[in-house]
Amino acid sequence: MNNFINIKDISSKNLRKILIDAKRRKLKRKKLKTLESDLGQPLRGKLLIQMFEKSSLRTRLSFYLAIRQLGGSALTLRPDELHLSKGGESISDTAKILSTYGDIFMLRTDSEKKLVSFKKNLSIPLINGLSPLSHPAQILSDIFTIEEITKKNISKLNICWIGDTNNVLNSLIEASIKFSFKLNIGCPKNYHLSKDILNQIKKNKKTIKTFNNPKKAIKNADVVLTDKVISMNDKVNKKKKIKDFLQFKITSKLMSLSKNAYLLHCLPRGNEVSDEVFYGNRSKVWQQAYNRIHVQKSILLFCLGKLR
Ligand code: CP
Ligand code: NVA
Repeated sequence: MNNFINIKDISSKNLRKILIDAKRRKLKRKKLKTLESDLGQPLRGKLLIQMFEKSSLRTRLSFYLAIRQLGGSALTLRPDELHLSKGGESISDTAKILSTYGDIFMLRTDSEKKLVSFKKNLSIPLINGLSPLSHPAQILSDIFTIEEITKKNISKLNICWIGDTNNVLNSLIEASIKFSFKLNIGCPKNYHLSKDILNQIKKNKKTIKTFNNPKKAIKNADVVLTDKVISMNDKVNKKKKIKDFLQFKITSKLMSLSKNAYLLHCLPRGNEVSDEVFYGNRSKVWQQAYNRIHVQKSILLFCLGKLR
């Protein structure tokens, strides 16, 4: 059994295996309807329990469909309906019950500590469906989309992030190290990365560069990724932060400084990208969102030791 908590903890070989499996599965189900299972139903009889402490549309639906297409079922828990959030039951007891009833647990949490505590107490695999510090399932799926739209191995591409120093960026940085792709980060001064991420960057100076000027960051980019300026539960002065990021808005003018780059955005969206770019023909955000299903199927198989 394997956990899927942070990209940095998974070998490059296994990450690549997940992507290869996802590509194969996506191709094979071209003629199948949404709820029809993949041939062989590799997760028949398995239950995915998923819990969201923060809002979610895509992660919730894509994990539900992922397990269904593999022949299993999903149960979504609302934390406010559990004894856990009302203070009546510990994480360790909750985790024991989840491990007794379920086969795999996917958690979107507002606390890194909870993730660690669930990991310690579960005896079934744990998937991180977004935490304050990372969003690994999103980024692995984005690598899949990037290779699909460019038809190139990501190690041959220049990737650019324009936006906040948040959970999604942290996972992108970890992916840049694992998949050896060049990453330019454009964000305003005073928006710092965590110590752990900075240490990872220090060891990879040649491939990861940070800029406080979006025009410099976007130069030569093949793909530009971004995310909301204000993340869920972001405890900041929102007015100030939005103002600080005004120069970093992705407009057609800014995009014209790249090599005709594609735009990706994990969604939901705020004001960080203009309508013209977001709905324009270089934007691949809908394909990106849809691919979550395919990659997460292979993540589930990886976690349950069933990746071919
Ligand atoms: N991108 C993403 O994780 O979307 P949701 O918050 O809707 O799950
Ligand atoms: N950075 C965003 C990602 C949402 C999918 C957040 O944490 O709210």
